[in-house]
Order: sequence, then C-alpha cells, then structure tokens
Amino acid sequence: MRGSLVVANWKMHGCRASVSDLVVGLKAELDDDIQAAVVVCPPYLFISQVADALSGTAIQWGSQNLSEQAEGAYTGEIAAPMLAEAGCQFAIVGHSERRLLYAESDQQVAAKFAAAQGVGLTPILCVGESLQQRNSGEALDWIERQLQAVIDAVGMGAFAEAVVAYEPIWAIGTGKTATPEQAQEVHAHIRQVLAKADPVLAEALQILYGGSVKADNAAQLFAKADIDGALVGGASLNVAEFAAICRAAV
Ligand code: PGA
Repeated sequence: MRGSLVVANWKMHGCRASVSDLVVGLKAELDDDIQAAVVVCPPYLFISQVADALSGTAIQWGSQNLSEQAEGAYTGEIAAPMLAEAGCQFAIVGHSERRLLYAESDQQVAAKFAAAQGVGLTPILCVGESLQQRNSGEALDWIERQLQAVIDAVGMGAFAEAVVAYEPIWAIGTGKTATPEQAQEVHAHIRQVLAKADPVLAEALQILYGGSVKADNAAQLFAKADIDGALVGGASLNVAEFAAICRAAV
C-alpha cells in the first residue's frame, strides 16, 4: 500500500486569517489530478478551523505533537482523544524540534506513537541525524537506534498503521536539502532495519523525506525508489509551492 503522501507541517506559524487563506488556496489548487494523499498539520489552536474548512474534501489533517497521557493533570498538554475528536487522522511524533528543544526522549516518542495509535491516529514518526553525526559516519546507526526504541516499545506490527519521516536535522529550515542519493541511502536503510523485523510491513511502509523540500527539488527526491513523499515545513506555508510539491508526488 505504498502510494505517496505529502504532509504540511505548519509549525508555530499563522493566525486565523492566514489559516483561512491557506485552506481556501489548498482547496482550489489540490484538485482531482493530485495522486498523493495530502495532510496538513496546523498549530493545535487552528485544528478545528481547518477541520471545518476541509471536511468533505480529500485533504486530511493532523497534529504536530500530542501528549503520551490520555487525560489528567498535565497543564498545557493535548491528549490523543481530543485530537481524534477534532477529526485528526495523523499525528507527527518525535520531530527533531521536539526532541532537541523540548528534550523528548526515544521512550517518550515511542509512548506518543502508542498514544496516537490507541485512538486510531496514524503516527508520523520522525527520525534523523545531526550534521555532526553525519560527518562522523554515525547517521545510520543513530537512526536505527531511534527506530529500534519504537519497535521495542510497540512492536513491529504497529508499523502497519504508521508512517516514518526521515528528516536530517541539518536540512530542516536551512535550505540545504539532502541530495536525492543521500536521502535514498537512508530511506533504504530504514526499510532494511524494519525488514529485519517484518519484511512485508517494511515494504508496504510509507517513508517520507523532510528537510527543505521545495517545488524545485521535490520531483528528484520522489523519483527515488524508497522515497514515498515528503514532510514539508517552510514551503507548506505557500499554497502554490506546496501544491507544486503535491503534484510532483506520483
Ligand atoms: P522545512 O521543515 O521544510 O522547513 O525544512 C521540515 C520539517 O521540519 O518538517
């Protein structure tokens, strides 16, 4: 069931008016000839607004994060059941900005992955190495460790309803995209690591690339055998740019 998937990560951008412009623009631009599934992940506060605007369209929505707790005294957190009630179908977990700026551990990321699946959300599990790790030849081992932590916690079977996103930290928001060859090498490795646990599930899994994906580099990335779509940050805030990326995913 590979197919392609393009996910917009709006991060902490926008206001009611700009979100309205974005969804109106996306509805107009993403017509029937888009083959990829398209998901937008707004800031929490705008999820209901996006849900109202996009329900009945082919565009789906998700969250950028979630709590690993189902409910309780966790001030400032958002629980998976709340997201499900808001019509989310996806939840990004383990984005490097969460891991680095908010000290999320592999174990916490795995717990969030499980919490998302517990209410039927599809987790989009982000993994990726720093520039220093890449330069010292540790990238593949590091990513394997990030994946293994989740496999250990939830079992490989859980990857039947999940997406993995490879996002090299050095490529996020920097304008320095991984070359299609660099990305393909890691995507193939991710598939191999998962195939050790379950080759059939590994083959069916969608693995997205993220890190400075733009309209002008998307097609070359998507042409690679193990790249099944993209997780798009900055370029997803521009309707024409994002729509062009979606159109490049076949
Ligand atoms: P970018 O962000 O496209 O702005 O590099 C990608 C991401 O962080 O998901």
